[in-house]
Amino acid sequence: MMTRLTATTPRWDVPGPAGIPLLGSALDLRRDLLGTLEKAHRRYGDVVRFSAGPRGLRIVMYAVFSPEGARQVLTGTGRRYTKGNLFYRETAAMFCDGILTSEGERWQRQKRFIQPLFTRSRVAGYVDVMAEETAALIDRWRASARHGGTVDAAEDMMRLTLAVIGRVLFGDDLNEATPTLRDAFPVISAHVLRRSQSPLRLPASWPTPANHRAGRAQRQLYEVVEDIIDRRRATTAAGRDEDLLSLLLRAREPDAVGADALDDAEVRDQVLVFLLAGHETTATALTFALHLLGRHPDVQQRVRVEAEKVLGAGNLTPTVERIAALTYTTQVVKEAMRLYPSAYGMGRQIPEEEVIDGYHLPPGADVFVSPWVTHRDPRIWEQPQRFDPDRFTAEQEKQRHRYAYLPFGGGPRACIGQYFSMLEATLATASIVRTFGLHAPAGPVALSTGITLRPAGSVPLTLAPQPLH
Ligand code: HEM
Repeated sequence: MMTRLTATTPRWDVPGPAGIPLLGSALDLRRDLLGTLEKAHRRYGDVVRFSAGPRGLRIVMYAVFSPEGARQVLTGTGRRYTKGNLFYRETAAMFCDGILTSEGERWQRQKRFIQPLFTRSRVAGYVDVMAEETAALIDRWRASARHGGTVDAAEDMMRLTLAVIGRVLFGDDLNEATPTLRDAFPVISAHVLRRSQSPLRLPASWPTPANHRAGRAQRQLYEVVEDIIDRRRATTAAGRDEDLLSLLLRAREPDAVGADALDDAEVRDQVLVFLLAGHETTATALTFALHLLGRHPDVQQRVRVEAEKVLGAGNLTPTVERIAALTYTTQVVKEAMRLYPSAYGMGRQIPEEEVIDGYHLPPGADVFVSPWVTHRDPRIWEQPQRFDPDRFTAEQEKQRHRYAYLPFGGGPRACIGQYFSMLEATLATASIVRTFGLHAPAGPVALSTGITLRPAGSVPLTLAPQPLH
């Protein structure tokens, strides 16, 4: 039974599962994080206290599930809600302290440099790369489709989005970096996650095999990016490139006294953030959009009709205007991200006491909002398990709380790449559906809750050479 709070005086006794002696909820959270969160929401309400680990080493977290609670946490980001939690500290230690994890003055400075690189007109300049990489993927898939073959959407969408963000960042230097990016990222991500979830952590400097492995992957990643930066420093003065790296190297603070620029380490940190934040997330959105379309031929057909109308049966060059006209396809991508938000949880720490949704939370508390749970709240979404892109018509969107749907977070630390990834995912979805008929096997896709939510294994998609009319 959901506990409804009626008292107006904030309470201190935040409800939550006791879990098993000594370990608290550690095992439940590790075994089935998403199911445990959903169950706790149903049972205890919109604010839930979880504790994990033995006394003395216990990690306590407060989950905040209501849209209004999420708004408070995300828009209060800054002094009142910091990113000082374990997850972000571990991320900063391994991936550097770029704009995703930095705080205060440092974050503001980085944001001033980086925001201008993600304006709508700048991002519009990346559509050609998105279109070319999508066309290359479609060419590869044509060969499979001729034999009614099956592809792995999860793997191929990762390849696509890494190629897009890689080319946007590095231009022609991408090929040199690709093998390292592919190998090092999963090792570091797994390491960050293990350490941020474990109450028992040896110092990262200790020579354990796990620390060795992660340290080696980190060095490889830094080296490949630093080499590219070094070489680029030598050539950008000539104004050679318009890729994101060159723009970062040339960026100057607009109102700074003297020409303040990012130094090489800061540039490297931002590059790593874009790679970390910018490819797995978009790949997951695309993978699930395609899987769901493969399960829902009626929706697939509506996307196809729209894609043919907007992009033409031949090859009209995609532009931001044309992508903006793909309104139903955009709804499909949004609905896929409602059901499978790659950022399934976002954590903050509160330096001082706060009252959220009628409960006092103590100073130093770790809080997190969970798009996974909020996106499946039956009080907000009718039949939340159902795939229904019509939830995202403009009229429907207007009627919901702004924070009922938060795949890109919100407030000052909201995703900087939202427009970029929506363009990329919408264009790729429409282009693929215009070319192939998609069929996906029945049954749920197993999920992995790593740094982001993603499919645990392959996501098979059977392709028909001609769209299924
Ligand atoms: C579907 C794709 C994506 C999703 C679902 C997503 C989601 C998010 C979310 C939820 C946050 C906020 C994290 C928090 O509040 O703790 C975030 C932040 C961020 N994202 Fe994304 N993201 C996506 C794609 C991208 C892309 C393509 C880029 C860049 C190329 C990017 C760059 C960033 C950066 C730099 C931040 C940190 C902003 C700040 O703290 O000021 N993201 N993203």
